[in-house]
Amino acid sequence: MNQSFWQPAPEDLRLHPFQCHVWMHRWDRDTTPDAACLALLDESSRSRANRFRRPEDRRRFLSTHATLRVLLSRYLGFSPAQIQIGTAKGGKPRLELNSAKASSDVRFNLSHSGGLSLMSFALGAEVGVDVEQVQHRTQVRELVERWFSPREQTGLLRLPESDLRPAFFRTWACKEAYLKGLGEGLLRGLGTFSVETNPVKPAALIEDPELPESPARWRIQDIPVDEGYVAAISTPHPHASGIRGFLTPG
Ligand SMILES: CC(C)(COP(=O)(O)OP(=O)(O)OC[C@H]1O[C@@H](n2cnc3c(N)ncnc32)[C@H](O)[C@@H]1OP(=O)(O)O)[C@@H](O)C(=O)NCCC(=O)NCCS
Repeated sequence: MNQSFWQPAPEDLRLHPFQCHVWMHRWDRDTTPDAACLALLDESSRSRANRFRRPEDRRRFLSTHATLRVLLSRYLGFSPAQIQIGTAKGGKPRLELNSAKASSDVRFNLSHSGGLSLMSFALGAEVGVDVEQVQHRTQVRELVERWFSPREQTGLLRLPESDLRPAFFRTWACKEAYLKGLGEGLLRGLGTFSVETNPVKPAALIEDPELPESPARWRIQDIPVDEGYVAAISTPHPHASGIRGFLTPG
């Protein structure tokens, strides 16, 4: 992991235009009691939490969503209880702003895989994030052929076997981060656009025939997370030079 990307979080959390913050939360090490997490959630999140059958899924949800609300409250200057989260048309969670803070325009997104959750925040621009735990049993060749664009298939399938697996998961994270930034989720179809697949090149959106202006607008960036995981963030800032990473306490 690139330690220098992850900075100590400042006391006064402030987002500036053209800046994104990404937080890495190791929910499996979070010792906050369930009851304390539940107390931070709104009614609909509480009932979602209670619908999980597997204890670890419930725990992950509680820890991640409680942390999300604490962070949102710090960015907005609200108490967590005042934060209302709704969903946009494509299903992307977004803030339902009350009139007192109608000028706040903080956007966020979250992702989880294995023991990690990532939460991203931006001001006045969309943001998407995805983290993937690299799976060693996944039949990556088949998935590339099934889901990725012809251009990505060409790029990935010529890689030596040892490079293909990490490149596949990185490509997946970039693609999902982009779709989550757009708010469309996977219903849009992963094969309808292409990202950079070359492991030695920086992450990028290469082409999106449905939204031809997107490659010039959207920035995708790798996020250096824990060993065994890959992650990416997306935002339409043309100069999103300020992507900063913070670790949640614990
Ligand atoms: C949304 C989606 C991309 C999530 O992918 P995933 O790999 O399962 O999960 P991730 O951990 O990366 O992301 C999950 C988070 O993305 C967010 N999310 C949900 N829908 C989203 C959307 N349309 N755009 C952006 N973010 C979304 C949520 O915060 C969710 O976390 P939560 O379930 O704890 O609230 C994927 O499930 C999807 O596209 N689904 C299609 C829509 C769908 O199935 N709808 C069901 C009803 S028709």
